Amino acid sequence: MTNSILLQTLAKEKTERPPFWFMRQAGRVLPSYMKLKEKYSFWEMMQDPKLGAQVTLLPIDDLGVDAAILFSDILVIPYAMGMGLEFTDRGPEFDIPLSERKDPVAALHPEPEKLNYIYNVIDQIIATKPQHIPLIGFCGAPLTVLCYMIEGIGRSKDFPKTIKYLYQNKQTVKKLIDAITELSIIYAKGQIKHGIKVFQLFETHGGLIPFELYEELFFPAVKKIARAVREEGIPFIYFPKDIGTGIQQVTPDMCDFLSIDWQTPMDVARNMVDKNIGLQGNIDPRLLYADQQTIEKELNKYVEFGSKNQDWIINLGHGFLPDIPYKNARFLADWIKKTDWKR
Ligand code: CP3
Repeated sequence: MTNSILLQTLAKEKTERPPFWFMRQAGRVLPSYMKLKEKYSFWEMMQDPKLGAQVTLLPIDDLGVDAAILFSDILVIPYAMGMGLEFTDRGPEFDIPLSERKDPVAALHPEPEKLNYIYNVIDQIIATKPQHIPLIGFCGAPLTVLCYMIEGIGRSKDFPKTIKYLYQNKQTVKKLIDAITELSIIYAKGQIKHGIKVFQLFETHGGLIPFELYEELFFPAVKKIARAVREEGIPFIYFPKDIGTGIQQVTPDMCDFLSIDWQTPMDVARNMVDKNIGLQGNIDPRLLYADQQTIEKELNKYVEFGSKNQDWIINLGHGFLPDIPYKNARFLADWIKKTDWKR
């Protein structure tokens, strides 16, 4: 038995309300984070165990979430493969994108030890977090990570060089996927060894290419990462954003829970996704730009779904945006807790 409502739901046990956490919950939506950002850069905060742990745990008090997610980034994997990385005002930037390399596979030098600083952050989080709040670990899924590695700059959502590269160099892309997958598995196992209790795989750019191509190239990698994590007894959440009807092809050997984006209503997703897979999602974070009356009206539409579906984790359809008013994020969290879920 566990006293975590999130772990209970992941174990398909009954709870009085759905558990919740939010993608990008530790970030610019929190005034407490903005205060720290006046003094420290993002890189500094994620590399320092004390600061990293402090930021990771901020949303527990500030939002009342049921889980903490490690304060880090998906791009630590290319960094640990030798790519020079900086977080600038324009977003993440790599010094030499793989699109500029003659032999991109040879340009990579995976060094798992270059991830050790993150395990120190995890140790500090475990030592200081409330006992009933589990820590979620994560990494990026291979397509999303590859997008940034090939493109070099991360503000673009279109990744035109990546798509061109993918169609022109499929065999090289397969080797790159294997290299990312291999290091991601080592990293996931390291996180588990240091005490994370849930793992989420972020495939933010899953909708970039036709689903058939995504399935052919990337499903095998997702399966490998999922197997490695679940072997250790850790539940696995997969977030393939924008794959549309592709959610029907996700099989129980790929995840325990599937995170749904805002395009697909939860009840429609429930009918499409394999019954053995639980769901997470899918509030549009931009709803939180609206006034609270409008927000509440939209949220009330989730109550029926929540009353009928125990295997549901409330989350956003994608992460908080930096300029969402904190008071509305807090309103959402409080609404989840005060609602009668009729369970
Ligand atoms: O969710 C959390 O609160 C945990 C921490 C976390 C961050 N990034 C911190 C972060 C997680 C899980 C991520 C994942 C991530 N990083 C993804 C996948 C999920 C998603 O949001 O799409 C992607 C695509 C990245 C790559 C990345 N990191 C981009 C494109 C950017 C710049 C754009 C932006 O949102 O600012 C980052 C920087 C980043 N990662 C910040 C944070 C808090 C902003 C740093 C700052 O405050 O300046």
